[in-house]
Amino acid sequence: MPPLEFRRMLTGDLPRILEIERASHALPWDEGDFTRVLCGADGRVVGVRGVIVGFVVFRVEPGEAILLNMAIAPAWRCLGIGRAVVAELQEFARAKPGRGIAALVAERNVVAQLFFRAVGFCCVRIVRDGSGDDDAYQFAWSAEKTPWANRIARMVFGGKQTDGTTEARRHGEKP
Ligand SMILES: CC(C)(COP(=O)(O)OP(=O)(O)OC[C@H]1O[C@@H](n2cnc3c(N)ncnc32)[C@H](O)[C@@H]1OP(=O)(O)O)[C@@H](O)C(=O)NCCC(=O)NCCS
Repeated sequence: MPPLEFRRMLTGDLPRILEIERASHALPWDEGDFTRVLCGADGRVVGVRGVIVGFVVFRVEPGEAILLNMAIAPAWRCLGIGRAVVAELQEFARAKPGRGIAALVAERNVVAQLFFRAVGFCCVRIVRDGSGDDDAYQFAWSAEKTPWANRIARMVFGGKQTDGTTEARRHGEKP
């Protein structure tokens, strides 16, 4: 695998990002959705030899980073790129107060559930109708490396309604 290149998402990246987005989600964001969300959130792209192969959009809040959207181009999946993208986000979150990441995953998106489990997240809550007509699972990751990490994640993320519930477009809401 050639080296992965990470950088901030730029407006000029949108055509390629929209291509990946449409190939990845049943209810894809459109250009307006990305533009609106990126006014209050961060976007990163990952590339290989100058070609964008994936992206992540997240918003940093005082107690957590909320992952709003993420996709890897189909031809580049199952190569460890998603794991590398989340590792970058985890590195970023470690330096922040709260030191956690939350992500909402549609009940039907089993691959994403397996993915988030594999990269250290745990399911902390079921969100009824959190994905359009479908339920969703809220996953959380904590930077704490103790055996209590999952419990801490539940305490931090499990008992409150975060904005991630309503802003994760993947799950039926327009941003
Ligand atoms: C979910 C997604 C981002 C994963 O990206 P990826 O680059 O393919 O993932 P990785 O190759 O880094 O996989 C990391 C781990 O996740 C798990 N995983 C990933 N894809 C999997 C699959 N199709 N089946 C089972 N497990 C899978 C594996 O445990 C894998 O570890 P391993 O390679 O050591 O077995 C990608 O499938 C995707 O873009 N899906 C469509 C969009 C989406 O659902 N986004 C997430 C919600 S917003």
